[in-house]
Amino acid sequence: MFKTVAPSIPFPPAASMEVLFTQNQIAERVREIGRQISEEYAGESIVLIGVLKGAAIFLADLARAISVDNTFDFVAVSSYGRARVSSGAVKLIKDIDNPIEGKHVILVEDILDTGLTLSYLRGLMLQHKPASLKIASCLDKPERRLVPIEADYVAFAIPNRFVIGYGMDYAEVYRNLADIRLFPEELAVGH
Ligand code: PRP
Repeated sequence: MFKTVAPSIPFPPAASMEVLFTQNQIAERVREIGRQISEEYAGESIVLIGVLKGAAIFLADLARAISVDNTFDFVAVSSYGRARVSSGAVKLIKDIDNPIEGKHVILVEDILDTGLTLSYLRGLMLQHKPASLKIASCLDKPERRLVPIEADYVAFAIPNRFVIGYGMDYAEVYRNLADIRLFPEELAVGH
């Protein structure tokens, strides 16, 4: 079943939205995080687990910025009525494909917001008994946190603004933008 988008939702052109982080700034931070992870896991191999769909682009870049062996897997979750205010209920709709027992795992997210998604996923992944489990998130909105969880690697901490691009969407649009931009709050219907 495809999600439908109400025709009344306005989609401003990407170029009209203020850039928060440029493609170059993002690439620089991804390189730095990749270097840090490569040093910390020297001689090991890593499983990167991306949370669909937002993390796909960050994971693709991060995987290539890490010089130690890494493989990737993906999970998908749904949360009921989250939008910008979470109901707190998170459900797994796609599990990992390969076992992670005894492996070094990094959960990869585009944004750490209330923390409910990563908190749920961390608990779930720990049940698989990985050798270690860390979290990398492209963005972090610390002031939105509802549960205590922090990422081990963060490209940028940001204030509570609605952002799109570099994997992040508004009604599934804008994920492909190379920059991270501010979506106008007044247009963010239901978010
Ligand atoms: C976003 C993001 C995280 C989650 C973070 O996912 O990708 O998974 O919200 O929020 P939290 O910290 O409040 O749990 P979204 O539901 O928008 O799905 P998407 O990745 O497919 O865009």
